[in-house]
Amino acid sequence: MNVIITEDYDTLSEQSADIITNHVTGLEAPVLGLATGSTPLGTYNRLAARQAIAPIDYRHVSTINLDEYVGLGKAHPQSYHAFMKEKLFDHIEIPEANTHIPDGLAENRQAECERYEQLIDSIGPPDLQVLGIGHNGHIGFNEPGTSFQSETHVVNLAPSTREANARFFSSSEEVPCQAITMGIKSIMKSRKIVLLASGQSKAKAIERLFQEEPNEAFPASVLNQHPNVTLIVDQEAYQLVEQ
Ligand code: GLP
Repeated sequence: MNVIITEDYDTLSEQSADIITNHVTGLEAPVLGLATGSTPLGTYNRLAARQAIAPIDYRHVSTINLDEYVGLGKAHPQSYHAFMKEKLFDHIEIPEANTHIPDGLAENRQAECERYEQLIDSIGPPDLQVLGIGHNGHIGFNEPGTSFQSETHVVNLAPSTREANARFFSSSEEVPCQAITMGIKSIMKSRKIVLLASGQSKAKAIERLFQEEPNEAFPASVLNQHPNVTLIVDQEAYQLVEQ
């Protein structure tokens, strides 16, 4: 694993935006695997801001998002569809047909999971997968105990994950109980992975990432088995790792 330690969140965001930009400008038909949550927000803000100053072409780019809440449609402000549109897609003029996120309203969820995995295999795998990390080591919405062989599936969200994400909703009861997420095997198909971690609240998870052998009780530990992972971490999130 390559490790880039940055002074703060702003520098982390700048560096990850640079990696994305390099893929977009350097590849003929780049496929970007994208994440939601607070951590990649600074990256998306930068990509959006750069478009206003020195725009780059995104028409040849495809995106595949990690996950979506079950029961939230595109129009729901807390859906990951809405997040991606508001924070990134509306600012970079990427054709909507090139952007892919699981359908949280699919009546047949199993069929939706199969469709999504086939999509990953047909237009992907991502050349670059951006990942955040949950406090319990989840990646995407793959909670502790998820098989490393998992493909796209429906997951019951851990109480701690619902609690952590309640800040985006008006009350914690409104946080959906389930999500559709790319599986760990799906994520591991990516050619390159950039894992982002910022702030003191992620320090324990980052410490475990370095301490633990790959094990399913700590999903992010699987990344130690991937040949091309770059961790971009700020000093606060890196503070418990022995140096
Ligand atoms: C969420 C998302 C993950 C994200 C993680 C961390 O539940 N499904 O993709 O990486 O939790 O979120 P944050 O960046 O807000 O800390």
